[in-house]
Amino acid sequence: MRKVFLFGAVILMLSLVVGLYPSWAEKPARDGVGPMAIRIAPRFPAPEYHSPLDWWQTHHMDIVNRGDVTQRDCLYCHAPETSCNNCHRYVGVAVVGGLVDW
Ligand code: HEC
Ligand code: HEC
Repeated sequence: MRKVFLFGAVILMLSLVVGLYPSWAEKPARDGVGPMAIRIAPRFPAPEYHSPLDWWQTHHMDIVNRGDVTQRDCLYCHAPETSCNNCHRYVGVAVVGGLVDW
């Protein structure tokens, strides 16, 4: 009788572990899936200053903060919610647009 009870308890614990395990979430990625996906309308080609892209991903802030290009220029192709701020929220950077007067 006791064995049956223990067996039941083990099964219950295992199913709780599987059932309550935090669901997997994707990082911000171009054309990824889920709320973090970065989407840019396909009709826009990437401007020359995005190249190489991995450099741009880590240096766009320097270029924008230096004033070489303004955020307004970026938003010609990028919708802030789907291609700036989902990544900015993920990394904890101030969001683009909205209340900020640029
Ligand atoms: C002419 C349209 C256009 C403009 C203007 C533009 N972008 Fe982009 N951007 C793109 C495209 C297209 C891609 C995707 C490139 C790729 O995946 O090969 C991209 C990619 C990016 C990425 C990388 C996203 C990723 O996949 O991780 C960042 C960051 C970015 N842009 C920031 C900016 C910033 C900041 C500005 C303004 C200074 C800007 N962009 C201006 C079209 C534009
Ligand atoms: C793939 C991720 C990603 C995307 C997409 C992205 N950024 Fe960023 N951005 C970052 C990171 C990471 C930082 C902060 C880096 C640091 O603090 O060293 C940053 C910082 C910035 C900063 C400087 C903020 C500050 O407080 O100094 C500006 C301005 C900026 N991004 C503009 C944009 C714009 C405009 C877009 C959309 C066109 C965009 N970013 C899209 C990752 C991203």
